[in-house]
Amino acid sequence: MATAATKLLLIDRVPGINRVPNSYIRPEADRPNLTEVEASDASTIPLIDLQGLFGPNRDDIIRLIGEACQQDGFFQIKNHGIPEEVVQAIMNIAGEFFRLPESERLKNYSDDPSKSTRLSTSFNIKTEKVSNWRDFLRLHCYPLEEYMHEWPTNPPSFRKEVGEYCTRVRELALKLLEAISESLGLEREYISKNLGKHGQHMAMNYYPPCPQPELTYGLPGHTDRNLITILLQDDVPGLQVLRDGKWIAVNPIPNTFIVNIGDQMQVISNDKYKSILHRAVVNCDRERISIPTFYCPSPEALIGPAQGLIDHEHPAVYRSFTYEEYYHKFWNRGLRTECCLDMFKIPSA
Ligand code: OGA
Ligand code: NI
Repeated sequence: MATAATKLLLIDRVPGINRVPNSYIRPEADRPNLTEVEASDASTIPLIDLQGLFGPNRDDIIRLIGEACQQDGFFQIKNHGIPEEVVQAIMNIAGEFFRLPESERLKNYSDDPSKSTRLSTSFNIKTEKVSNWRDFLRLHCYPLEEYMHEWPTNPPSFRKEVGEYCTRVRELALKLLEAISESLGLEREYISKNLGKHGQHMAMNYYPPCPQPELTYGLPGHTDRNLITILLQDDVPGLQVLRDGKWIAVNPIPNTFIVNIGDQMQVISNDKYKSILHRAVVNCDRERISIPTFYCPSPEALIGPAQGLIDHEHPAVYRSFTYEEYYHKFWNRGLRTECCLDMFKIPSA
């Protein structure tokens, strides 16, 4: 049973709410159509075993990663090297955080997207017309020592457990970036060297049970604006990925992460790799927690198509820009499905 604290920040705080408030209801043309969503298995969204990434099978694994980035924009990974206890600990901490009394949670509240640590609800309540059925805590997490002092201190082990997780996920992200660089035929360090000082952000998404999930979203369709996302989710389905015009449910597989290509990777790869639309839907019965890590350039980093991928047949699709410029455009225009990338395209001759 949902406790009194398992409520959205801004929703009517009436116990046993059995209808979605009007502010969450999408226009009819923009609803999730849940009956038309297709199921997936490990072959629909490739499940890649990273076990031999530093052994003799490296080339094979890199080929699989490259194919997944090109064809799907999404893949799942197992044997990723992050210990189960570390993953369990952060999932538990996230659950505990969202079950804290409201007064405790709200100490972290802000609706200003430029704040590096903040609890908020929906997506961007200052700009959006319809709300989303989600609360989220966003944290910057690299370099750790610059941000950790801003993080919540309740639950008491929050900083320790989350810090440990962030360090591990960063190591994994760097390995993936090397593999993705190689899969593009670039030198192993190419991507990593072009991210300035690097950045790492994290969200803890909390989707409470929803009485009318067919009327609203946890998160509507969007692409991730960062470089790559490494998503940890609990055992409740909710993530869906758009493929060939159809939404596909990515059902959770224990001990795996979902990796997806973000807008910056699409730019660096000069459109070879795709930043794919995805969304989160909610359900009547169970709360859901997901924890994406958004690996990204630092704000001053200059992003553009890799020189090595530009030639006569493949002219540069995008102009160069700083990540800061991109980031501001993104937050100001809201979570729309049209690609923010279009604003950075070079008009074709
Ligand atoms: C996101 C996202 C999906 C999920 O936070 O960008 O796509 O399953 N989340 O929560
Ligand atoms: Ni996303």
